[in-house]
Amino acid sequence: VEDAVPLKDTVDFPVGVAIDSRETTGAAAELLTRHFDQITPENHMKPEAWYDADRVFTPHPEAIALMDFARDEGLRLYGHVLVWHGQTPAWFFEHDDGTPLTNSEADQAILAERMRTHIFAVAEYLSSGWGAFGAENPLVALDVVNEVIDDGAQYADGMRRSRWYDVLGEEFVDLAFQYADEAFNHVYAADGADRPVTLFINDYNTEQAGKQDRYAALVDRLLARGVPVDGVGHQFHVSLSTPVSALAGALDRFADVGVTQAVTELDVTTGTPVTDALLVDQGYYYRAVFDAFRERAGELFSVSVWGLTDGRSWRVDSGAPLLFDDALQAKPAFHGAAGGE
Ligand code: XIL
Repeated sequence: VEDAVPLKDTVDFPVGVAIDSRETTGAAAELLTRHFDQITPENHMKPEAWYDADRVFTPHPEAIALMDFARDEGLRLYGHVLVWHGQTPAWFFEHDDGTPLTNSEADQAILAERMRTHIFAVAEYLSSGWGAFGAENPLVALDVVNEVIDDGAQYADGMRRSRWYDVLGEEFVDLAFQYADEAFNHVYAADGADRPVTLFINDYNTEQAGKQDRYAALVDRLLARGVPVDGVGHQFHVSLSTPVSALAGALDRFADVGVTQAVTELDVTTGTPVTDALLVDQGYYYRAVFDAFRERAGELFSVSVWGLTDGRSWRVDSGAPLLFDDALQAKPAFHGAAGGE
């Protein structure tokens, strides 16, 4: 790896990796800064990470460590995530007595205000220690909403019936972007900075036909309503049996929409047991998919892998999904991604 070409030098788009503070020191940090220009906090900027047990906004030491690491190493930071149904405290969706919020106007106002307060608290905090957005601040992008599309076709609007949706309807997506735009691109932005934080919608299985249709339809509705969506994110948690053409097709589907795109969470499982032959196949897969990204570099805000080493992957049980092994050695996957043999 020492003499391997830095991955970031083989592509014309920023290349990122999801981490926590374990990857900010020692040999892992050296490997990371050699090959990547961007980091995503894998868990520690999710809604639940910002609150203590008494519901008090309390920045997580891991979020602080990642902001410091990005600033010190000159890395970009892609924030993840403001509004999601996962890893979010239950009290967001409850009255103080624990009864669930309903879709009454009064309860809608409560949840919208909670969302606004949350988004503004995150923006105020992330600008406080590291400077206004658009100047020295490492934050360049944010997943504003995550996984809002339903996995099936049963609903006409294609929207996931999450607690956010149950209370506010589809408008929760509009509100999230409007609040994020106000906070990150205006109130806490540097003077004169023009949309310093790129605001993304993000989802998985966007390489699959039905989900992709529902996703594209929502993006069209949002843009038609003037919602300040700057980018479309594709998680791309895939396996060797997912055709690379499906990933390329997903990017092509959104190429004419008029917003940028990001590959936000790429990983490619081999299946188990993991064999040398499968790891070689995976190398060819990563080569083909990175070549597809290179051909579309002009449309890509960034491409991120969802973890540095296999042992740290949330999908390790499905087979060695990432570019480096647990000894920090480059796998065929790395050499493929970098365009080598
Ligand atoms: C995953 C993390 O990788 C795990 O460590 C955590 O236990 C669960 O969440 N889609 C997303 C990510 O948007 O936030 C998820 O990350 C993976 C799927």
